[in-house]
Amino acid sequence: MRQHTRLIRSAVLATTVAVSLVLVTGSTLAQSYPAKPISLIVPFAAGGPTDIVARTLAAAMSKPLGQTVLVENKLGAGGTLAASYVAKAAPDGYTFLIHHNGMSTAPALYRKLSFNPLTDFEYVGQVVDVPMTLIGRKDLPAKNLQELMAYVKANASKINLANAGLGAVSHLCGMLFQKAMGTEVTTVPFSGTAPALNALLGGQVDLLCDQTTQTTQHIKAGTVKLFGVTTKERIRAMPDAATLNEGGLKDFEVIVWHGVYAPKGTPVSVIEKFNAALRTALKDPAFANRMTDLGAEIAPDAKQTPEGLKSWLQSETQKWGPVIRAAGVYAD
Ligand code: MLT
Repeated sequence: MRQHTRLIRSAVLATTVAVSLVLVTGSTLAQSYPAKPISLIVPFAAGGPTDIVARTLAAAMSKPLGQTVLVENKLGAGGTLAASYVAKAAPDGYTFLIHHNGMSTAPALYRKLSFNPLTDFEYVGQVVDVPMTLIGRKDLPAKNLQELMAYVKANASKINLANAGLGAVSHLCGMLFQKAMGTEVTTVPFSGTAPALNALLGGQVDLLCDQTTQTTQHIKAGTVKLFGVTTKERIRAMPDAATLNEGGLKDFEVIVWHGVYAPKGTPVSVIEKFNAALRTALKDPAFANRMTDLGAEIAPDAKQTPEGLKSWLQSETQKWGPVIRAAGVYAD
């Protein structure tokens, strides 16, 4: 009996020491963090819409963190390679992921996914919501959405629609556009919409659904043709641009939301510090003004939190899963 009591006491003591060590390590880490540059992983090509948000954010977050946030592009498989890389990275506060709607569509698009977006991450918060635009090469004969749809129907076998790979939002938007129009065309995948847009500018592809963060300057310069914005209402950055809804594609809506994630097990103290820096950065005029000029909206306060991102990801996963499964589209 006495030996049993002694065993229980030693077990309690060992647990107490272990808990204290974790607390001490956690609080020491919180005080010294960040002690070196932090990597922010972008799943698509440099110069594209995700990269533009990431680099503007990284510059704004470096100020409150007192450390450089380095953007690294890890391309491939519609963004899933980067997400898988971050899910398996050391949970030490020095590797984060910025990703968009792809986190919610990947579980339905990929039957063999090496990570679970809902369980393999810590959630930092949402960043911005970005509208998309359906654009075409400058010399396409159509002048508006109605003319474009007639032209595409008449020339379906010759039309190329670019995207950033299966699971990219450009792919999702293009898929919904074809479904809404009732005509299928050839899709051409790239490693991001930066190279896809270059191909459109060079006349190698005909159409692209892409985010305003990348397309605004080209639409304003007239180097591409705009056929509609993918939000239900017109956007402040381009008030003259009609929506696809207005053009006849009723209820067409795709809005790109971006969130920041860390590997599962990253200490709470680190997530809190990174989240505080994120929220400060979202209010930084350098970040906010650039995003507004490019048509993006800063995420509402409630979504800038770990809980806000996680519950939004859950609801988006529930929304897109059935749509993708009904369309019977798989990426693998
Ligand atoms: C990118 O940054 O290239 C885009 O976000 C890719 C996409 O269309 O999802």
